[in-house]
Amino acid sequence: MNELQALEAQGLTELAACGDAAALRAWNTQYFGDSGKMKAAMGQIGKLPKDQKAAFGAEANRVKAALTAAYETALAAKNEEELQRGLTTNPYDVTLPGRPRARGRLHPATQILRQIYAIFADLGFQIYRTREVETDELNFELLNMPAHHPARDMWDTFFTTTPGVVLRTHTSPGQIHVMREAAGKPIRVILPGMCYRNEAISTRSEIQFYQVEGLVIGEGVTMADLKGTITAFARRMFGPERQVRIRSSYFPFTEPSIEVDIDWPKDDPNRDRLTKGTGWLEILGAGMVHPNVLRAGGYDPEKVTGFAFGMGPQRMLMLKHAIDDIRLFWQNDLRFLKQF
Ligand code: DAH
Repeated sequence: MNELQALEAQGLTELAACGDAAALRAWNTQYFGDSGKMKAAMGQIGKLPKDQKAAFGAEANRVKAALTAAYETALAAKNEEELQRGLTTNPYDVTLPGRPRARGRLHPATQILRQIYAIFADLGFQIYRTREVETDELNFELLNMPAHHPARDMWDTFFTTTPGVVLRTHTSPGQIHVMREAAGKPIRVILPGMCYRNEAISTRSEIQFYQVEGLVIGEGVTMADLKGTITAFARRMFGPERQVRIRSSYFPFTEPSIEVDIDWPKDDPNRDRLTKGTGWLEILGAGMVHPNVLRAGGYDPEKVTGFAFGMGPQRMLMLKHAIDDIRLFWQNDLRFLKQF
């Protein structure tokens, strides 16, 4: 019995001497582990005379409960103490505002492309994607420009090291891809994408730029359909107060051909400089698809007709917001981009 009381007293003294939670846990193993002191003390019971066993057992259980309770109280106190110490030696201010995440936005060119898609979707057009690297055959020849045709000079071309392979100078070669895939069925698509020209860079031209091509083919398609489509598009894009001008023009792949201009904002001081004194900026070329081009796509010009157009989305952005330099689009200057 005295042994049990001595064990209790020793246990409590040692417990009080534990400096931290780790020491407390070591104490716990020493007293209550598989080969701990408590177990050893309980083992004594077998050697006792029968009449002492019950009292010894009861006392052992009391000591065990007292030590366990003391241990749990001490451990909880130590944990709390350590938490408080951590909070004061390494304080953090939960009232500090967080760091805001920088929010991105769509590039203005992407924004205008999506507006164009939405308008043409309402007019019943599908979007058809075609390649940026083309053959000379599709970029020129099948668009009614045989080798050495002077009209090729309209496009200063980037050639690749593979003979006959070029970076497309316009989205028009996509017309041939669509026609060949549609294989004689009626067509109403737009073909958006990047084009490349080996040009002197200026405020109005860049070596890379977006175009959105359009192609409609079917029985009885006329110039009136082309003009109606383009005018409806321009009204939606620029609003009813802006003027649309249609001029006759020349492209090898259309006959007859037109060009379409929009009037530059009248109140913009740069108007004369940017429109070379005319007040107009061209947004697209268009026309009735040339019979040779229809044939190249596998369509019979005796049975169907079609119209096509190729527009410059970045020119449209310039017109909408009176932007005076097309080079701003690819300079990635946030001061410019954040305005959209
Ligand atoms: N491909 C022409 C260019 O890049 C634009 C164009 C004109 C496209 C007339 C057409 C068209 O589809 O019919 O200058």
